[in-house]
Amino acid sequence: MSAHEDELLEARARMLAGHDMWSLAAEPALGFPGLTMSDGPIGVRGVHWSGDPSVALPSPTALAATWDTALARRVGALLAQEARRKGVQVLLAPTVNLQRSPLGGRHFECLSEDPLLTGRLAAQYVAGVQEGGVAVTVKHFVANDFETERMTADVVVSERALRELYLLPFEIVVKEAAPWGVMAAYNGVNGTAMSEHGELVNGVLRGEWGFDGFVVSDWFGARDTVGAALGGLDVAMPGPHTVYGPALAEAVRAGKVPEEVLAEHVARVGTLAERTANPPSPAPVDGAALAREVAARSVTLLRNDGVLPLAGAPRIALIGGLAKDARVMGGGSAQVTPERVVSAWDGLRAADLDVVYARGADPSDRLPALAAPMRAVALAEDGTVLGEFPTPDGALMWVGRLPGGIDPERLHTVVLRGTFTPEVSGAHLIAAEGVGEFRLTVDGEALLDGAVAPEGDDPFAALFFPAQTAFPRVWEAGEAVSVELAHRVRGGGPIPFVGFAVAHRDPRADADALIDEAVAAAAVADAAVVVVGTSKEVESEGFDRTSLRLPGRQDELVARVAAANPRTIVVVNAGSPVEMPWREDVAALLLTWFPGQEGGHALADVLTGAAEPGGRLPTTWPAVLADCPVVDVTPVDGTLRYDEGVFVGYPAWQKAGTAPAFEFGSGLGYTTWAYESAAHADSALAVTVRNTGTRRGREVVQVYLSPAAPDPDSPARRLAGFAVAEADPGATATVTIPVPDRAYARWRDGAWHTPPGDYLLHTGRSLTRTPLTTPVHRP
Ligand code: BGC
Repeated sequence: MSAHEDELLEARARMLAGHDMWSLAAEPALGFPGLTMSDGPIGVRGVHWSGDPSVALPSPTALAATWDTALARRVGALLAQEARRKGVQVLLAPTVNLQRSPLGGRHFECLSEDPLLTGRLAAQYVAGVQEGGVAVTVKHFVANDFETERMTADVVVSERALRELYLLPFEIVVKEAAPWGVMAAYNGVNGTAMSEHGELVNGVLRGEWGFDGFVVSDWFGARDTVGAALGGLDVAMPGPHTVYGPALAEAVRAGKVPEEVLAEHVARVGTLAERTANPPSPAPVDGAALAREVAARSVTLLRNDGVLPLAGAPRIALIGGLAKDARVMGGGSAQVTPERVVSAWDGLRAADLDVVYARGADPSDRLPALAAPMRAVALAEDGTVLGEFPTPDGALMWVGRLPGGIDPERLHTVVLRGTFTPEVSGAHLIAAEGVGEFRLTVDGEALLDGAVAPEGDDPFAALFFPAQTAFPRVWEAGEAVSVELAHRVRGGGPIPFVGFAVAHRDPRADADALIDEAVAAAAVADAAVVVVGTSKEVESEGFDRTSLRLPGRQDELVARVAAANPRTIVVVNAGSPVEMPWREDVAALLLTWFPGQEGGHALADVLTGAAEPGGRLPTTWPAVLADCPVVDVTPVDGTLRYDEGVFVGYPAWQKAGTAPAFEFGSGLGYTTWAYESAAHADSALAVTVRNTGTRRGREVVQVYLSPAAPDPDSPARRLAGFAVAEADPGATATVTIPVPDRAYARWRDGAWHTPPGDYLLHTGRSLTRTPLTTPVHRP
């Protein structure tokens, strides 16, 4: 090999390796311009963790609740616009893993328990992003449906369940939207790490389905140079320390990775650069307006005794910590920093509703970041100031890149300094949040001087869910307090990372008194709106859930408010199922999911009737966790067995014969519908529905397929198609829903088979509320 050839080899190997947290560096000798990637899926965070606002859309479970593929495409177009604005060429989304267990930590970030609903929505999302000239990475390929030991666990799953469930959303997206990228999962499948899974990546994804995009590792997910290169992985992220780059060049020199294999990887990344090189400039989309529209459309009304939409000008008692401190997105890499957050309190007041507020109960004891602007001073070991940066509050997060181009090698300590003036007198809590060495000084007094140890071994845990070390202080309103938190930066990690915060909480009334106050406010109001939900400790990437109970005393709060006011409307602000023991005792129950930045406006739109709640459950909501047929998310000796096979989600509930609290597909609108006819012809079902209510509305028409003769080895019913119908009062709408051959197919002995015989198509408004039945004979 000549020196020039060797230089080119080095450049090719470098082109496949992360340069830093989010980018591939330009390689001029190869004509490669470099690329920037960013999370996904509800916005485009960009290369900075904070300080670079992004539109925050509702979470994927909310988008899925709309069952509206056209809306998913518009969401994709907006995300492409955000990516272009931030100089991002690759969006690390959508997440199409399945909601196998309600305990899955990233349940909120997946779309559905059903592979068809997941795949169809994701395909249109991808089409929308790519029409905007931005690539996606459909993730995480495959069987990344839990968080416990997520970096190392191996999933043991039958070929049939893989094909009929976990691979299916990826297959649908590849075939319907030709994605430009896929992200390999951390976990293994049947003994092989997904970053090295030649059989599934080269064989199935590329070979069988014709995927022609690039495959990127999940972050820090590639562990073996030769295994990954031969297994089909094109790019190892993040950098600068990866198994590609120099190590890959060396493996090629040593003959362990053939030159042709390297050339294929390089060609795919070259294609990606070409595809994203000249993005179009479509007419701008109003991000806040779309976020509000999707949020309103996703609201899933599960119970309504007629209290909604609100009539007249009721006096409302708005109750719940979450009504003011809205939780608009789930935790982990799916987080973005929105420009603003509209809480229920903000939204209801903006709609001119007559509202009084009572906190009632909080979902979490965690302290928020100190609400005071601070300065971050970056220091070298000898005390030299490397830079000073303002922060809007007490939180600091530098991931992958340090501000002002600071050399990570020189950074030794970061000091956050500021002055805080309490608005309330009494016992405040002040905390250092983070892992590592800290010195917290308040008004010159050192409260903490020492090390805080990390919990668990997930490298992202410190990022997503850092420990808080809190101290009580008695302060007077109006008397300024000076706060300083110094943090000794732990260098030597795979990427530069500085994340810590000064957290604080005002004096709080005793928990019993808070509930009593809320009950008293509800008793004298015309209606009570109680917002309850989950917290950062409950729904996040990096760990699984351990319970479906609402945290804190929120159940007790709802029960007591409902007893005090028969017109109690409960709003559930959670990304995935929670137990609702009081569900039969309230006048109305609606799920707003994690509604994104405009959630409060969308809630007001639905409560007042300006918008119809359009959501239908994309996943089964259990009464209690113990009823759930598939729960387990904890590997044993490094292995998680998907022994339930194809019985996941509603097929598992049907097989178990257990009734959930709310079945798959459930949701009410503000009008009523009659299912008039369904006619099958040319592999499609034409369904006519009539709006029998008094206002224009939308209906999600759902078609489920079953074999006429029950087959105990297969799901009793499977979603075969769906469409959104719209009509004025008294009018009909006809939707044509394709039911392709594949809907009938089962994976047997290494191939798809369609058993000939009689089938039934059940059409209606949820899994078992299907007034129309259409027989289909397949020869
Ligand atoms: C997540 C990915 C994400 C990546 C980059 C990983 O931990 O699993 O979904 O895209 O980090 O933030």
